[in-house]
Amino acid sequence: MSDLTYTPAVAAATAPLYAKLKQVIPEIEWPVHAPMIVAINALKREKNAVILAHNYMTPEIFHCVADFVGDSLQLAREAAKTDAKIIVQAGVHFMAETAKILSPEKTVLIPDMRAGCSLAASITGADVRLLREMYPGLPIITYVNTSAEVKAESDICCTSANAVDVVESIAAERGVDTVIMIPDEFLAQNVAKQTPVKIITWKGHCEVHERFTADDIRSYREANPGVVVLAHPECPPEVIAEADFTGSTSGMISYVGSKRPKRVVLVTECSMSDNVAVEAPNVEFVRPCNLCPHMKRITLPKILDSLVTMKEEVVIDPAIADRARRSVEAMMNLKR
Ligand code: 13P
Ligand code: SF4
Repeated sequence: MSDLTYTPAVAAATAPLYAKLKQVIPEIEWPVHAPMIVAINALKREKNAVILAHNYMTPEIFHCVADFVGDSLQLAREAAKTDAKIIVQAGVHFMAETAKILSPEKTVLIPDMRAGCSLAASITGADVRLLREMYPGLPIITYVNTSAEVKAESDICCTSANAVDVVESIAAERGVDTVIMIPDEFLAQNVAKQTPVKIITWKGHCEVHERFTADDIRSYREANPGVVVLAHPECPPEVIAEADFTGSTSGMISYVGSKRPKRVVLVTECSMSDNVAVEAPNVEFVRPCNLCPHMKRITLPKILDSLVTMKEEVVIDPAIADRARRSVEAMMNLKR
């Protein structure tokens, strides 16, 4: 294990990073993070590894050790095209599985196997087979926030960034006016408002986004005049109705980057505001948020440990992975 002392050399090597992050990481914490950042970046080079980090990772992961950052769709694209031998997924288990599905020959590590997701836990492969029996002929669109087994039983995947396009293209391709979209009930209801295609859904919810209410949004506006409200489509429809913009995590980042609102609230997981604020110093972030306990299981010490011990490795039955890959690739090959 590397020496994790905060030496003058470590302080000097990481000073530019801290200068960037000082508004979101207290000074007292930096001597703890900095030696791990140096050690992780050295191990990545030594082992030919890359770190894919979701937008909900804490700033010391997102800005200091990640090779690629993004929403679920962007991370899947990076997983498919990286030349590295090892992928460390700084995100939750379904994201690591997606990386393994798309890069079966690579070693995919997740720093904490327990990093799950309430949506992924809401449905099994057997549930999907039952849906297929109940609604013969209807295509099944599965949100990427699901297990490989569930993806394997589906026709195509979607993410929050492309859900409307996926619904409309598969409905047109199959010549149907109704599709099944699982397992996020709210995402499906929010998509249904943007398309004439009818959607049958499932009762899964994101435990982070389901907690926001329309009253919350009204009170943010009352307390913060002029605030622009950006909400994730995993929020309940009444929250989306109160928002100024709805989009995936990367959609929200692009909105802040291009429109530069004076004041903004990101109705989503807490680390998003920290990560975006670093790149948008003149934007005031109003910061009510909900923590994702699964995302927060991924920490710098666990990433370091993962690279040292090569654990935990994500393994998928090849027969399931092959079928799941068809669904993920059907989404990635979409022309729209
Ligand atoms: P996106 O980053 O794809 O918008 O997903 C948000 C989310 O909740 C991932 O778990
Ligand atoms: Fe799952 Fe919600 Fe956490 Fe994303 S934020 S991993 S959807 S529980």
